Amino acid sequence: MDQIIVTGSKNPLQGKVAIEGAKNAVLPLLAATILASEGTSTLTNVPILSDVFTMNNVVRGLDIDVTFDEEEKQVIIDASGQIGSQAPYKYVNQMRASIVVLGPILARNGYAKVSMPGGCTIGSRPIDLHLQGLEAMGARITQRSGYIEAHAEKLKGAHIFMDFPSVGATQNLMMAACLAEGKTVIENAAREPEIVDLAIFLNKMGAKVRGAGTETITIQGVEHLKGAVHQVVQDRIEAGTFMVAAAMTGGDVLIQDAIWEHNRPLLSKLQEMGVEVLEEDEGIRIRSTVTDLKPVSVTTLPHPGFPTDMQAQFTALMSVVKGQSTMVETVFENRFQHLEEMRRMNVHSEILRDTAIIHGGQALEGAQVMSTDLRASAALILAGLVAEGQTIVGKLSHLDRGYYKFHEKLAQLGARIERIKGEDSDV
Ligand code: EPU
Repeated sequence: MDQIIVTGSKNPLQGKVAIEGAKNAVLPLLAATILASEGTSTLTNVPILSDVFTMNNVVRGLDIDVTFDEEEKQVIIDASGQIGSQAPYKYVNQMRASIVVLGPILARNGYAKVSMPGGCTIGSRPIDLHLQGLEAMGARITQRSGYIEAHAEKLKGAHIFMDFPSVGATQNLMMAACLAEGKTVIENAAREPEIVDLAIFLNKMGAKVRGAGTETITIQGVEHLKGAVHQVVQDRIEAGTFMVAAAMTGGDVLIQDAIWEHNRPLLSKLQEMGVEVLEEDEGIRIRSTVTDLKPVSVTTLPHPGFPTDMQAQFTALMSVVKGQSTMVETVFENRFQHLEEMRRMNVHSEILRDTAIIHGGQALEGAQVMSTDLRASAALILAGLVAEGQTIVGKLSHLDRGYYKFHEKLAQLGARIERIKGEDSDV
């Protein structure tokens, strides 16, 4: 397996970096194309990521035509014929997000059989809210031999209150409700920008979704949906990762087309630390002098709170800021594994349940480390940028799920980083 080798340097990152379309937007958008019984759908600004290949295969597995033009970063989907009802283990096992096909398949075919997502390193991640919502809409659900089977000749609009604003459950229910009879109201819905992007696409397809981005989403069911053209929203987490990279190297980096509104919780913490954050015509510019930064306390929350998907990268930044910073992770119960790996790089931290205390300002040391999940892989690479000597990061399959040409983009900004083919002895 490949490895990334970063040689720490005192050189600040400098220049401009382009951001891809959002992984967490394109996956539900691909699922939404299943709903179109007429015409074709075209998604543009599609990131070239292993999770996108997996979702394309899930959709293809439903006898739907999917063409990914990687050069154009465009996917064309024709779901207008008779479509299948099953999402098998081999894909759902690779990517939990495949569960968002459950609602669309059920709404379109009246029956869906989707493998139950298995274990996950960052937390237990149940899908009870997805299933409860579909049941409220009249679906009969059984779970047997590792599969969820859902039946409903015609889903019925319902009033659903979600105990927690789950991103995936909100998406699944929104999509299912588009073809249900009558009106569905989802209360305490997730408000992430990717939910808004999905609603925009569904409405282009002929759906009647209102209120996305607020805690109450209302969907008036329609008879059928048709294909549409849509540009995937920019990846706020990729953008945020480069913001943190700039901040921790004392850099000056323009993150092109980054959207201020989507990154507000991160930007406000960077400002609190003393990082200069500038909104420019071309995007968001980050300027920092690491020596002057102050420690901060952060709590991850559903949007518009601080994103859990930026937690690992932000702890890398905390580790270079002199003093004691605190990170509370409230969304996932096991998302501090990167801190165990960073210990090998002389990052001093204490973890007590959902809280990590980081004693920042120690000199980081290069080491051989292993990615434990997608965002952890980025965080370890960021730590490597400022560590003394070489950091070798293994298990890059995690990185490839969510970052396109990460090392090349960092190299363009002046980092000493390369990706090599080789043995991953530690994994
Ligand atoms: N939860 C439940 N029951 C449910 C659904 C969720 O208890 O039925 C819990 C989960 O166990 C978790 C919390 O709710 O503790 C949040 O889960 P959510 O459903 O909101 O997350 P998700 O839809 O599974 C998406 C992103 C994640 C991101 C989370 C939170 C995609 C494909 N994935 O996951 O992205 O961390 O929202 O913002 O959109 C990543 O990109 O690195 C990543 C993990």
